[in-house]
Amino acid sequence: MLSQLPASEKLAAILRISQRMNSERDLHQLLDLVAEEGARLLGAERASIFLLSEDGRELTSKVALGSSEMIRLDSKQGIAGTVVSTCEEIVVDDAYGDTRFYQGVDERSGYRTKNMLAVPLTDLDGRAIGAFEILNKREGIFDEEDKQITRALAASAAIAIQTAKFILELQRHRVRLEDENRNLLRELGGKLPGKTILGSHPKIEELRRMIERVADAEVTVLITGESGTGKDLIARSLHFASPRAARPFVALNCAALPETLVETELFGVEKGVATGVDRRAGKFESAHGGTLFLDEIGDLSLSAQAKILRVLQERMVERIGGRTPIPVDVRVIAATNKDLAEAIQKNLFREDLYYRLNVIHLKTTPLRQMTADIPALASMLLLRIAEEMRRPALALSPAALNALASYRWPGNIRQLENELRRAMVVARGQMIEPEDFSEALQGAAESAAPAGPASGKGLQDEIEELERRRIQEAMARHGQNQQKTARALGLSRQGLINKLKRYGIKANAAEDE
Ligand SMILES: Nc1ncnc2c1ncn2[C@@H]1O[C@H](COP(=O)(O)OP(=O)(O)OP(=O)(O)O)[C@@H](O)[C@H]1O
Ligand SMILES: [Mg+2]
Repeated sequence: MLSQLPASEKLAAILRISQRMNSERDLHQLLDLVAEEGARLLGAERASIFLLSEDGRELTSKVALGSSEMIRLDSKQGIAGTVVSTCEEIVVDDAYGDTRFYQGVDERSGYRTKNMLAVPLTDLDGRAIGAFEILNKREGIFDEEDKQITRALAASAAIAIQTAKFILELQRHRVRLEDENRNLLRELGGKLPGKTILGSHPKIEELRRMIERVADAEVTVLITGESGTGKDLIARSLHFASPRAARPFVALNCAALPETLVETELFGVEKGVATGVDRRAGKFESAHGGTLFLDEIGDLSLSAQAKILRVLQERMVERIGGRTPIPVDVRVIAATNKDLAEAIQKNLFREDLYYRLNVIHLKTTPLRQMTADIPALASMLLLRIAEEMRRPALALSPAALNALASYRWPGNIRQLENELRRAMVVARGQMIEPEDFSEALQGAAESAAPAGPASGKGLQDEIEELERRRIQEAMARHGQNQQKTARALGLSRQGLINKLKRYGIKANAAEDE
């Protein structure tokens, strides 16, 4: 029997138990282990552990080993209560003859306590966090050696219990944070003001449909179009409509990246590559599980293009100075306002990378090709801006609408947004008037003529612009009557309908025929 063991072997047993305790992270199993081993080492029938509640009012213990039923005591009650209050150990030779003993515990557990050794469990500051009780020594009474052994076990047990509690708390905390994070991201998904794609032009509607259709697919998407036409917005919409929505969306502006930093930014770096360099994950790793948005990809150097192509092919990254490749699960979306076909011709862009990226190609439309949509778009943007500014939205006067519709918008929707934001600030009445816009826009409104060749835009754009405007004017002149308008323009009715569709002009008066 263990209680008959020589002292050196008891010491060895204590060390073994301590080691086991320190590798046990589950609080309940840890308590079972301490109780079981304590009783065995002292040659006693059983042992129990009482822990003090957070508020210090209650002591709890399991009814029996392996059971999950709990016994609750007032923190001053019984031998355990006395040990915790005084922080001193107690030996009881005859439990039922001791007034401090609380028989309720025996009644609950159906066990009869005869004698007992109880020592406090204390934290690192010496405060009691519970009591460790050894019950019914099989032979003789608890002696000095028993006390020493129990104290040693209690000291290790207290530390292990605190560690286990701390880990449990951290785990709960992590689960809560992850939950919170997921919910926030889900909310952000579509609802974030300023982050929905507005517009009812057929081209924008088609774009919205495409985003819905390809969001779920894991394919790479290339977005091209002029500056300010919503490429960034589309990339985010794709991510938040995809199953990856709750994982990171990481954007990297390739144009803003000096050649020397490309690799560090994309692939990360191992500690100690150069003095003072800390270990850092690259964008590919940070986007793991989510989406990596490579913005302005047309501005990447050929050597950086080659490196990205390799990651896309192998789905692995290697940190600079690192030896093991790290697998990455990332959906790539790329955008550029450059003409990549032309860049390929000039050997500035790799054709193989182009085909890798271009699985799905989304093209944005310049605002000047959606003029019919400008009034509606402007009103919606105004509402959004007003909400952002926490002010009521102003209305656009007919003259102001006219000014917006006749401008060429080199900066596209971004520029329109900025004009409206400016007007919201400078307008004095309830209406936005042309004079509330910037000079560039006012100049265009005054001339109110089709933009001349000085605009620097292509001939095709200008022809389309002219045609669109002629059709709009004719429709207005003929009270939206398609038959009359077609005749006035020398077109067939179907020819006019095709053009109305093409330019997104609303044929809202079909019924007046
Ligand atoms: N269809 C749209 N509906 C609502 N807002 C839009 C739309 N298109 C663009 N915007 C807004 O216009 C601004 C510019 O858009 P974004 O940054 O996405 O353009 P971009 O194509 O990435 O431009 P750049 O090439 O200059 O980076 C943003 O504030 C965006 O919210
Ligand atoms: Mg952009």
